Amino acid sequence: MSTFRVDGARALVTGASRGIGRAVARALAEAGADVALSARTGDALKETASLVQDQGRTAVLVPGDLADTARAAHVVDQAAHALGGLDIVVHNAGVLPMEEDGSPVVLPLQESFQRDWDSVLHVNLGATAAVCRAAHPHLAASPRASLVLMSSVAGVVGAPRMEAYAASKAAQISLVRSLATGWARQGIRVNALCPGWTRTDMTAFAYGSGPLSDWLMGHVPLGRWAEVTDVAAATLYLASPASAYLTGHALVLDGGMSVPDGGLAGTPKPPSPFVAPAPAPVPAPSPHAGPLAAADAAR
Ligand SMILES: NC(=O)c1ccc[n+]([C@@H]2O[C@H](COP(=O)([O-])OP(=O)(O)OC[C@H]3O[C@@H](n4cnc5c(N)ncnc54)[C@H](OP(=O)(O)O)[C@@H]3O)[C@@H](O)[C@H]2O)c1
Repeated sequence: MSTFRVDGARALVTGASRGIGRAVARALAEAGADVALSARTGDALKETASLVQDQGRTAVLVPGDLADTARAAHVVDQAAHALGGLDIVVHNAGVLPMEEDGSPVVLPLQESFQRDWDSVLHVNLGATAAVCRAAHPHLAASPRASLVLMSSVAGVVGAPRMEAYAASKAAQISLVRSLATGWARQGIRVNALCPGWTRTDMTAFAYGSGPLSDWLMGHVPLGRWAEVTDVAAATLYLASPASAYLTGHALVLDGGMSVPDGGLAGTPKPPSPFVAPAPAPVPAPSPHAGPLAAADAAR
């Protein structure tokens, strides 16, 4: 079990103010890392910092809006400066397109707006490139460097009505594969984690609704939502020496959702809340006339 420990490692976690990022920060600290924490919301970062400190590790706050790519680079450099270098970077910050009332935009591409596409790609992919670029010199100087991008199963299987999100997450997987080969001889491992439906603020619109949650979980063979601790455990594996021979990989952590299960073991699915029920079929007219028509109708 000692290969899962990251004692003395210097880690940066983005999107650490809540949800998956907070759980990842806590898990890294429990495994022995000091952790720099980034997000836009300073007060929430302080709560994550206290979870890190409860594990006896150092927490430093490097707040910033990663949509500002210059700021994103500065966040990475600040983290490295505060911790004396970086061995682990978990770039986890990410967004769904949001309506003005805070609910997610769930619309087919042809009905959505270019501004939704642009904002999601800017944060989920543009900031990813900026973080990776800035992290490179720090990770190259580390003897145990691991970069983890928090992608999504949506990047593997696609997500109708969430095309921008899915495309941004697929692009992260592509970037992982490119960087992994480019940076391998510099001792930097690069992997993606692709969670399925996980209970966080991002998905509160779905797990808070019985029928929608039931329908979504009908497509998950394990039949339940992932908890943030499930995702944190897999992230720790990717960040730690336990995965020392793994690079360029996209680890899918989705309760089996991406395995086609339409065959003999197909799990019964509730009806989709997005599709109107099909009208009842109209019986074909009887080919018989006269007395036989009544017998046909009875059949
Ligand atoms: N939940 C799921 O089902 C699921 C599934 C697959 C993949 N993921 C991925 O996992 C990651 C974390 O998701 P989550 O569910 O934990 O979401 P969440 O609860 O909404 O948390 C998102 C985190 O990202 C930060 N963030 C968002 N925009 C930012 C920006 N412009 N600059 C800096 N930080 C920003 C947020 O902090 P502030 O708001 O304080 O800035 C927050 O800490 C995301 O990349 C998401 O795509 C989630």
